[in-house]
Amino acid sequence: MSIVIDGLSHIYHENTALQTAALEGVSLSIEKGSWTCFIGHTGSGKSTLAQHLNAILRPTAGTVTVDGTAVGPEKKRERLDLRALRRKVGLVFQYPEQQLFEETVRAELAFAPRNWGMREDEIRERSRSALKAVGLDESYLERNPFGLSGGEKRRVAIASVLTTAPDYLVLDEPTAGLDGRARSLLLGLLDGLHRQGTAIVLVTHDLEIAFSRADQILMLDHGRCAGIGAPAEIAQQLYNDPVSGLVLPEVMKTALLLRSKGLRVPLSCDPEKVAQALVRERRRSK
Ligand SMILES: Nc1ncnc2c1ncn2[C@@H]1O[C@H](COP(=O)(O)OP(=O)(O)O)[C@@H](O)[C@H]1O
Ligand SMILES: [Mg+2]
Repeated sequence: MSIVIDGLSHIYHENTALQTAALEGVSLSIEKGSWTCFIGHTGSGKSTLAQHLNAILRPTAGTVTVDGTAVGPEKKRERLDLRALRRKVGLVFQYPEQQLFEETVRAELAFAPRNWGMREDEIRERSRSALKAVGLDESYLERNPFGLSGGEKRRVAIASVLTTAPDYLVLDEPTAGLDGRARSLLLGLLDGLHRQGTAIVLVTHDLEIAFSRADQILMLDHGRCAGIGAPAEIAQQLYNDPVSGLVLPEVMKTALLLRSKGLRVPLSCDPEKVAQALVRERRRSK
């Protein structure tokens, strides 16, 4: 089971003066239970790609196949079970305002499960545990989402997707605007979901998160794939050929520098691991 993206292109406002080619020929496979990160400068196409994973956007060319269901350019009279697809792939939008529309947090959290005909007691249970998972207490249930702070809105948007327990959870820059505590809480939540078998697809500017967690990283540049591979490969590529807007974490840069001088240290963002390897190297050379 997987999401297979094959030759995906997306043009906004095709054949108008506003025509923008946002993605061109992107291909990638996302396995069930894996962790994938999309990185790239602002405007490189990350959000456009994320919105294809659950068919919010449809390809101009190419296909996105989710567990065997292929979604291509929109055709007349086609029959696609988008509801089933969106139940498998949950998307947390880049801006909570794109996602939230109900008058209370309770209604927001209940929306998708109710739409899927879940029992009211199960909806209540799922809403409660989703809210708890994002670190908000039950007093938030009666609040209006639009009266919340930016960070709280983001957490409610995440909770509203968690209630659906998707197999693939796609999050578009979810750590933006969160303070340190909220960021580690969110990462702890994603680590837990990943351990339980949820595939995580994370759009992020935070390369430390990408390098420390991803199985594969897709680097986009002006809508095209500029690199795809394991964190160590992408880190080496960025070191050899820097891309503006993508800043390697300092510890990783140091590790790459040490490796270029022939020292055997891991490509890690963890200073402890790099230091331990250096100590071992020194012992070896004595
Ligand atoms: N709704 C839209 N209408 C027209 N152009 C858009 C729209 N959304 C994004 N774009 C354009 O598509 C390109 C890719 O944008 P986006 O996917 O948002 O990139 P990123 O998430 O990497 O910042 C940019 O040139 C952007 O201006
Ligand atoms: Mg974006």
